[in-house]
Amino acid sequence: MATGGKSKSGPSKPQRTASSQRWLKRQHSDPFVAEARDKGYRSRAAFKLIEIDDKFRLLMGGKAILDLGAAPGGWSQIAALRVKAGEPRGGIVVAADLTPIDPIGGVTDLVMDLHDAKSTAVLRKHLPEGADVVLSDMAPQATGHRSVDFLRSAALAESAFATAEDVLKPGGAFVVKVMRSGADVDLEKDLKRKFREVKAFKPKSSRQDSAEMYLVARGYRPVSGEPAT
Ligand SMILES: C[S@@+](CC[C@H](N)C(=O)[O-])C[C@H]1O[C@@H](n2cnc3c(N)ncnc32)[C@H](O)[C@@H]1O
Repeated sequence: MATGGKSKSGPSKPQRTASSQRWLKRQHSDPFVAEARDKGYRSRAAFKLIEIDDKFRLLMGGKAILDLGAAPGGWSQIAALRVKAGEPRGGIVVAADLTPIDPIGGVTDLVMDLHDAKSTAVLRKHLPEGADVVLSDMAPQATGHRSVDFLRSAALAESAFATAEDVLKPGGAFVVKVMRSGADVDLEKDLKRKFREVKAFKPKSSRQDSAEMYLVARGYRPVSGEPAT
């Protein structure tokens, strides 16, 4: 963001770029931003997981959930509430991101790069019996170049799928953010080989001008002979 220097009449106000002005305007007029603030959710993204779970019923009490790309923590908050993380006979939520999240009751926060092949071993230590559900809302930092951003997004979705294959229990579910770009079609085909059912879903709380949507895969079927957990 550009900042203004000092003038003779005193320090000038910081200058905002056109894109940050657009972003601010959109934030102020977005009802999901206001509702997230009212409800104490860390992000408006929380509503996307609420919609996904209301439709597909994945986050049952007692389940083990892995949340990839968890920061600032909106999805982990919802997952922790719904699986009753931290309660007697409740579930567990393991959150992973490049950046740490502020503590959430019942959530284990891990800082890691999901492209790093070593990340899986760490995740498995925290999910010794495997995960019932793997969520990935991972997104690359936007470069402004659509094709670059789409390629990076597709690579993150692939890494999330590889991680899911390493930690999911048989019968488990995988939710992954994808961009409608062509790469999502290939990933959907791969998922259909490993899951009983795969559905594409665009929550109402996902901005309608965004190419993002989610693939929801249920009924994980590891190839026989492969370790399941
Ligand atoms: C849209 S945000 C997730 C929002 C989150 N679901 C929530 O509800 O608050 C995308 C996240 O993906 C993370 N991310 C991007 N690349 C990653 C990587 N290689 N490994 C781990 N996390 C990554 C970013 O750091 C960012 O926090």
